Amino acid sequence: MAGFQPDPSSDPNLVNVFDYERVAAERLVAGPLAYFAGGALDERTLNDNRAAFGRRRIVPRIMTDVSAVDPSVTVFGRRWPFPLWVCPTALQRMAHPDGELATARAAAARGLTMTLSTSASTDLADVAAVGGPRWYQVYLLRDQGARRAMLERAVAHGYEALVLTADLQRLGRRERDIRASFLIPEGVHLPNVAAAAGVDPAEAASVPFVERLTWDDLEWVAGFGLPVIVKGVLHPDDAALAVEHGAAAVAVSNHGGRQLDGAIASLDALPAVVDAVGGRVPVLLDGGVRRGTDALIALALGATAVGIGRPVLWGLACDGEAGVGRVLDLLSAEIEQALALAGVANVGELSPAFVA
Ligand code: FNR
Ligand code: LAC
Repeated sequence: MAGFQPDPSSDPNLVNVFDYERVAAERLVAGPLAYFAGGALDERTLNDNRAAFGRRRIVPRIMTDVSAVDPSVTVFGRRWPFPLWVCPTALQRMAHPDGELATARAAAARGLTMTLSTSASTDLADVAAVGGPRWYQVYLLRDQGARRAMLERAVAHGYEALVLTADLQRLGRRERDIRASFLIPEGVHLPNVAAAAGVDPAEAASVPFVERLTWDDLEWVAGFGLPVIVKGVLHPDDAALAVEHGAAAVAVSNHGGRQLDGAIASLDALPAVVDAVGGRVPVLLDGGVRRGTDALIALALGATAVGIGRPVLWGLACDGEAGVGRVLDLLSAEIEQALALAGVANVGELSPAFVA
């Protein structure tokens, strides 16, 4: 029977993404662990991102031919082998010395798109040199020249899209960070901010971002000629406004529960956003995706693809590039299996009727 024998090469201690989370928590020092794992205030939104998947059940189809499953999707004309993208997460060198380079290599080897954060600890040119499909996540710097310089660098280095994160006009209050006295460790810098602002890397953490971000800024970012994904959409009216102001896609996200605590779970926000977008642009979702079955539920409710933030950090902390690769492979295999067991041979066959 297909898949009846477990893969003898798998590590019995690292069977799923939750195992990576547990082992990563044992390995990371307190400050970075608090920063990676934590959410804002009471972590209601952080927890609800997961709980929202648990509130749904899948209604599978039977007697369909799933002998060959095609889990691929197409986003901005590029074929993604799985409906999975790597979300931007800051400061990956706190998880592993190779940081974003390890993530980029693991994603590139699988043809998956990686998003590099403005607050990455690796220069965007070095990640570009890996050669994989890549997006650049934008926090607008307050200084106008620096703001422009950062986007020009991303364009010049072959990033294929810009992800404009709209839910961080200021930082959420993360009490785990405070309790752990979290500080960015010595030797971990923000080279992309430094390069754009023309400051020493050690000083880049104090370069300010804009606190006023409005739809004009989306139009300005779109002026750099790349598709722009507006990330942090939860309200359906904002999804419609984003499309009207030139967004090439929207990402339903609450920043992994790190910003407004009490904000709606990403999955709960998805259906109304999908309705408002009405098929005009892709709708991405991130927040709490830890299983292939989570991805299936989001895809059935209208997401084009799902993003993962923390699982990549757990993979990195456990085993650098190999760990990220294994996390990506686990989720990819789970997605393929979930589709097959739901009786679906390709993602396009999914619909809300698959979810109760
Ligand atoms: C993030 N996220 C994030 N988003 C962004 O646009 N720019 C960034 O620099 C960061 N940095 C960041 C750091 C850490 C440690 C985390 C956990 C998250 C948010 C991220 O892109 C994504 O929205 C969430 O992480 C998705 O939720 P899960 O998969 O972590 O549950
Ligand atoms: C965070 C920012 C950097 O969530 O996006 O910590």
